[in-house]
Amino acid sequence: MKTLVEDFFTRHPEIRLAALGAGANESALDLCPFGQKAQFFAAEKHPQLVERYRAANQYAFPGALALPGWVLSDLYLLPGVIGLLMCDARELKPALRKKLDLTAEDEAIAAAYVAAPSVVPGLAIGVSLISLLPAIHAGAWVKTLTIKMMRLNKLRGVAQWANPAVRVHTRMGPLRVVGSVPGTHEFRSKSFVYETDLSDEEAWADAMGRKKEPPPTRKIAATHLDELAVILERAENGERIYVVPPGLDTSGNVLLREE
Ligand SMILES: CC(C)(COP(=O)(O)OP(=O)(O)OC[C@H]1O[C@@H](n2cnc3c(N)ncnc32)[C@H](O)[C@@H]1OP(=O)(O)O)[C@@H](O)C(=O)NCCC(=O)NCCS
Repeated sequence: MKTLVEDFFTRHPEIRLAALGAGANESALDLCPFGQKAQFFAAEKHPQLVERYRAANQYAFPGALALPGWVLSDLYLLPGVIGLLMCDARELKPALRKKLDLTAEDEAIAAAYVAAPSVVPGLAIGVSLISLLPAIHAGAWVKTLTIKMMRLNKLRGVAQWANPAVRVHTRMGPLRVVGSVPGTHEFRSKSFVYETDLSDEEAWADAMGRKKEPPPTRKIAATHLDELAVILERAENGERIYVVPPGLDTSGNVLLREE
């Protein structure tokens, strides 16, 4: 993985790795994930960066999932960390820069990832993935590097079947389908809970590089929610079913493997 990380930052010298969270959390983090140095910003000392993160997040999630300020403070910054890929704002599309009220010289957020620490040691729950710099796999890289900064060996998260983010999530490896989303999530009916095992870093690196992909045994259109609900029920009843890389095909099918 170290080689892949080095290669990414060599190809993209405009991108810098950073972490934003309560100052007290700094010492718990690995701020050199896979050999790449990350700059830590204490949230209480960098209110402008917090504002920029919020603006970037609101741009990426404009509707029902918009981020409330209190969630950002109480649930993102205080208990944890936001992993960031930063760049000069000139790297962003001019219209986006304007929307975010940034000048070309400002520091901008290219991509960001948040996972909420959980009561299970080594496990966190993926909460928010955004990228404003498409086509360079910024989403997959910020997710990988944040997970490593948090020293996780397992991740659970909620994803929408038809969201291209499924392609990003499968860069960490196959997604074991856990079941439907508990509670009153706004997108519950089109979402699923997945789990990624991160304990084998070689397998994780293979997935990042799209190597050794286990073949799917079944494809279901990401919009066929009735069929996918049956998959969720079977997973909840103990069957091992995975969304395998690349997760979604170009026709919009979810790639599943039943074991
Ligand atoms: C999802 C998101 C983070 C991806 O950003 P990114 O990492 O910059 O995306 P990239 O352009 O590098 O593309 C990543 C992958 O998705 C695919 N993809 C991107 N947009 C796509 C689209 N509209 N349709 C199909 N596939 C698409 C790319 O082909 C690429 O696939 P690959 O990994 O197999 O090469 C970004 O689009 C975003 O912020 N979306 C809004 C917020 C969101 O929905 N977050 C996820 C919540 S679970």
